Amino acid sequence: MEIRYWEYDGVEELKEEERALVAAAREATGGSYSPYSHFKVGAAVLLEDGSVMKGSNQENVAYPSGLCAERVTLFSASAQSGGKAVRMMAVTAIDGEGKSATAAPCGACRQVMAEQERRQGSKMRIIVPLGNGKIRIFDSADDLLPFAFEAELG
Ligand code: THU
Repeated sequence: MEIRYWEYDGVEELKEEERALVAAAREATGGSYSPYSHFKVGAAVLLEDGSVMKGSNQENVAYPSGLCAERVTLFSASAQSGGKAVRMMAVTAIDGEGKSATAAPCGACRQVMAEQERRQGSKMRIIVPLGNGKIRIFDSADDLLPFAFEAELG
């Protein structure tokens, strides 16, 4: 297995639909409820039918009850679209000082991305703008979480 990713110097080097998805993810930070961490994460997904859905991190005073932007977005898109396939996902962040930050998806979100791919039978591109202005792109959740948990439970 080979883990691959691409790094670009800025959004202007991205394809139009990738750039639009990054813009949607940045807009989504506006919906973040993060009074505890002050770290606003916004995500957007492009579905197989061309629609874009957004989500953001939602915290709770009982800290572990909160949820990351990626899972809010993937679960909500699944619930609202009836399980349409996700072609691409962008994840952006703004730190407590209002500066762009890197939101490298956490392990639990990577596991959910991995299952999304398995469920839909196709890969999704994951776009992660970095705090330094560069953009990292992964062609599949497998590149973020190789050897993800799989079980024949169902
Ligand atoms: N968070 C996300 O929403 N996505 C990430 O990829 C990393 C972390 C959230 C969780 C928490 O609300 C805040 O960012 C600080 O960890």
